[in-house]
Amino acid sequence: MPSLFNTTRLQGKTVVVTGASAGIGAATAVLFAKAGANLVLLARRQNLLDEVKAAAEAGAAEFGQKISVVTKTLDVNDRQAVDNLVPELKAAGVKSLVNNAGGAIGVEKAGDIALADIDFMINTNLVSLIQLTQVFLAEFKAQDSGHIINIGSLAGREAYVGGSIYCAVKHAVRAFTTSVRKEVVATGIRVTEVAPGAVETNFSVVRFRGDEAAAKNVYKGIEPLVAEDIAEEIVWVAGRPAHVQIAELFILPTAQASATIFGRKE
Ligand SMILES: NC(=O)c1ccc[n+]([C@@H]2O[C@H](COP(=O)([O-])OP(=O)(O)OC[C@H]3O[C@@H](n4cnc5c(N)ncnc54)[C@H](OP(=O)(O)O)[C@@H]3O)[C@@H](O)[C@H]2O)c1
Ligand SMILES: *[C@@H]1O[C@H](CO)[C@@H](O)[C@H](O)[C@H]1NC(C)=O
Repeated sequence: MPSLFNTTRLQGKTVVVTGASAGIGAATAVLFAKAGANLVLLARRQNLLDEVKAAAEAGAAEFGQKISVVTKTLDVNDRQAVDNLVPELKAAGVKSLVNNAGGAIGVEKAGDIALADIDFMINTNLVSLIQLTQVFLAEFKAQDSGHIINIGSLAGREAYVGGSIYCAVKHAVRAFTTSVRKEVVATGIRVTEVAPGAVETNFSVVRFRGDEAAAKNVYKGIEPLVAEDIAEEIVWVAGRPAHVQIAELFILPTAQASATIFGRKE
């Protein structure tokens, strides 16, 4: 284990990760397991959650950690199911919530964006993140501790062509996260935004509606971030001492300087 994670602070703590079936969420689950955290893993695809659970258990065993892993099929846009989460999970004594589920659909420009895509992006990235935050805040306030880690994006700092809705929602995630941090300042609750640039996950395949070649092109001639890079940041943030609040992290590949400025080779 990297020395960064050579801490006992996360041992026995329960962490909820949304969108834990793939990409950044899955890598984060495995790394939390290696650091000894108990996991509650949520996503729509149960078969993939089962695989991530097995990988997390193997990772924990590798580092001599005893953990428990609970998986639950959840569409974060199912408002009733999200409302029922805390009563269902209460026994787990959740300490951290990683709001990671999300993504972008399409690169159409305003005027040509399907309403269904607009609804999906706003709901999944923003409304669900807000609902989940509210649901767990009640619990965290009762404990006077807890950590909300929201996955933002470069798109929450810079608006770009073909990303109007995704950029709008990630800007909103950033604003919401900042307001909540200010609101809970007199509690022991910590609030963090982790905002990555280009990470090669299934993100671009989803954005380009399954067009693998178009997705690959996003990372052409650069070494992009990988899911494990962002997982390291998330687990590091969660593992700081209780009086240390990492407010925000903005992480880019070395070969990226903005949404459009890349140092592409060849
Ligand atoms: N990759 C990047 O370049 C990048 C950059 C900045 C920010 N981000 C953000 O990072 C987060 C994770 O993305 P990723 O790169 O890891 O993409 P990914 O590989 O496509 O993973 C997305 C995850 O979100 C889950 N998800 C999507 N819709 C959901 C829903 N309605 N209910 C529950 N879970 C849902 C998916 O699980 P199921 O399909 O099984 O439900 C999957 O586990 C997103 O918020 C994304 O906006 C990504
Ligand atoms: C990637 O996204 C595509 C398009 O949504 C989907 O068909 C495929 O199953 C996804 N793959 C993974 C590994 O999540």
